[in-house]
Amino acid sequence: MKVTLEQVTKKFGKTIAVDNMNLEIRERDFLVLLGPSGCGKTTTLRLIAGLETSDSGNIYIGDTLVNDLPPKDRNIAMVFQSYALYPYMSVYDNIAFPLKIRKVPREEIRKRVRNIAELLKIEELLSRKPGQLSGGQRQRVALGRAMVREPDVFLMDEPLSNLDAKLRIHMRGELKKMHQRLRTTTIYVTHDQAEAMSMATRIAIMDRGVLQQVGSPKEVYDHPANAFVGGFIGSPPMNMWEGDLVEKNGKLKIDTSFFSYPLPPDLKEIAASKVTLGVRPEDVTIDKEKGSNAIKVRIDVIEPMGRELLVTLVSGDATIKMITPSDRTFRIGDKLKIKFKEGKLHIFEGKPL
Ligand SMILES: Nc1ncnc2c1ncn2[C@@H]1O[C@H](COP(=O)(O)OP(=O)(O)OP(=O)(O)O)[C@@H](O)[C@H]1O
Ligand SMILES: [Mg+2]
Repeated sequence: MKVTLEQVTKKFGKTIAVDNMNLEIRERDFLVLLGPSGCGKTTTLRLIAGLETSDSGNIYIGDTLVNDLPPKDRNIAMVFQSYALYPYMSVYDNIAFPLKIRKVPREEIRKRVRNIAELLKIEELLSRKPGQLSGGQRQRVALGRAMVREPDVFLMDEPLSNLDAKLRIHMRGELKKMHQRLRTTTIYVTHDQAEAMSMATRIAIMDRGVLQQVGSPKEVYDHPANAFVGGFIGSPPMNMWEGDLVEKNGKLKIDTSFFSYPLPPDLKEIAASKVTLGVRPEDVTIDKEKGSNAIKVRIDVIEPMGRELLVTLVSGDATIKMITPSDRTFRIGDKLKIKFKEGKLHIFEGKPL
């Protein structure tokens, strides 16, 4: 079912946790709500769940306005970071619990718990207690308990953050598979941009209560709407330099205090003259032709990352991060000329963050 937020605002005293948010989560989306700590992700989720009341605006689940609907009548299921399982109940009873309190007939409960257990591959664990499970297994039980009610919408608030790195990556894949099978609309909160990129059908990026951009992982990576999104998505982060847009002989270029660089003519729609130039480390390349645009740099740091090298270059006081295949031989102190890949320059209005 789709979920729509219309001009939703939520304040806590003077803090505007969610600021005039407009967002449509489409039916079957796996929408990841992404942003730094304190930007309003959990509050947004709690508003959708009905655990918080907005100060203004409307929230719809499907076509139903739910502003005044209590959480239990919204047919949504939430999974939190700290998923409290009942320690004295078996896995079976933990999963069955939401159905038991809704007085679902015993046979129906048995069938649904079995189905969920099969889907999550926890059939052999049904008679165990939560204390006898690994972290990832416990997480799956918590998911099972959320899924068993067959909700219209899943809300998940950093559900994998308590797991170790390897298990977290495994569970990302499992959740994604589960979504592909069940197709239930899911809103998933994380502050981890890599997690967002790997799981989302669409990403909504927030900063200080304000929605910055909504789009597919590729859209927000290739066409960040502003410097915040450009800097938040991608690791290592985008290089950014403050500069002035200058037009000379009909040609556009950017002047930073370290270098000057020509810009493609289609960037002209930018109104501001003070801008930020953003270039991702993988879009920095060595200029073998030694063209006139090339920027002279010196190698400062070399960090092997397996298949690739992360090279820190300096030019005056500027540092430039470059990712390059690791079959190259570089030495600290080497002098190079670099350029930026065509079509991969980002110009944002205003200063870098
Ligand atoms: N119950 C509350 N009372 C007062 N302020 C609150 C309350 N809940 C949240 N806030 C404030 O609202 C803002 C948004 O908080 P929220 O929990 O939504 O952030 P978040 O994006 O989930 O952060 P994190 O990634 O750290 O979980 C923060 O400034 C927070 O301090
Ligand atoms: Mg939170």
